Amino acid sequence: MLEALNPQPQDKILQLIALYREDKRTTKIDLGVGVYKDPTGLTPVMRAVKAAEKKLWEVETTKTYTGLAGEPAYNSALVKMILGETDRAASVATPGGTGAIRQALELVKLATPGATVWLSAPTWPNHPSIIKFLGMKMAEYRYFDAATCGVDFEGMKADLAKVAPGDVVLLHGCCHNPTGANLTQAQWAETVAILQKQGAVPFVDLAYQGFGDGLEEDAAATRLIAASFPEVLIAASCSKNFGIYRERTGILIALTSPDRKAVVQGNLNFLNRQNFSFPPDHGARLVTMILEDEALTADWKAELEEVRLNMLTLRQSLADALRKLTNSDRYDFVATHRGMFSRLGLTEAQVLRLREEHAIYMVGDSRINIAGLNAQTVPILAQAIVAVGG
Ligand code: LMR
Repeated sequence: MLEALNPQPQDKILQLIALYREDKRTTKIDLGVGVYKDPTGLTPVMRAVKAAEKKLWEVETTKTYTGLAGEPAYNSALVKMILGETDRAASVATPGGTGAIRQALELVKLATPGATVWLSAPTWPNHPSIIKFLGMKMAEYRYFDAATCGVDFEGMKADLAKVAPGDVVLLHGCCHNPTGANLTQAQWAETVAILQKQGAVPFVDLAYQGFGDGLEEDAAATRLIAASFPEVLIAASCSKNFGIYRERTGILIALTSPDRKAVVQGNLNFLNRQNFSFPPDHGARLVTMILEDEALTADWKAELEEVRLNMLTLRQSLADALRKLTNSDRYDFVATHRGMFSRLGLTEAQVLRLREEHAIYMVGDSRINIAGLNAQTVPILAQAIVAVGG
């Protein structure tokens, strides 16, 4: 049986982790996978997470199964953090944001097997990979303008005007991955109007809330969408904003009408049961403990804000260094991009030269993880970019 298997394509982001590990050069710089690093290069366990873990050890009395949808307290705390008060949300805890995306797509397949899922060009590579794996139809809408490294909004609008009723449109709620280019509030409002006209179902991927303009600000587009459509899917992750990557903590929210909520909830529970039964609880419980405790929430928010501001400082200093070295403003977009990533607009050949000649690792499309930099490595990266002709 197993000899019938063909090798699978490697995930380009994960492949980069292995290449970086194998590199013996001590000067190497990792700007690959989207993991936050502090200025010393460490991905810290956040203070509030540590405190919650300590308390959990003391108060936890059982490891018996939780519910199929996860612990209700987690779901309601996270729904509130993302959307504020709502009574339209069916939700399930999932293994990370990826688990939420997978479950959302399975739900779409169950409800409307013929629907096309529209993705931004480009998007996180795992989006099309999962859609293809599930055998679903997909299409792309223009998003990134290679000339300006901003959003090609005219192209995006023209493509979204082709969406058919009932099609699903995947939108990055904030901090677009891989580009770092984001819609303005006015552009979000226009996007909503087009999607309403087309009768589309929005599907928001919210993996970086708190990494862009702030916790509340980063939820604004998702909230606008939630208020504007009868049905919305939201896949959110706690991996980045709580720094609990390996705990696999995510949520899938399906907004619907009150009379459909029970059926939708039942389908979400069913899908969890088919795929993994009960969602992981440890990370979800830590998140709940933090969000239910005023002091822990305040400390978590303060640390998240430090993380966000650190990335903004790095953005500004990289943009400044490149402005000086190139004597032009063509990299100013690095400072206006938001989130963990920026797509620099370099060619694949230049990205390869950066790796081979300068031991600087970034994804082949020239996406850098801003948090992989620090005050010492910003000028090194800027000089290397110029050295490879960027
Ligand atoms: C990334 O885009 O680097 C992260 O979301 C990590 C991943 O799973 O790809």
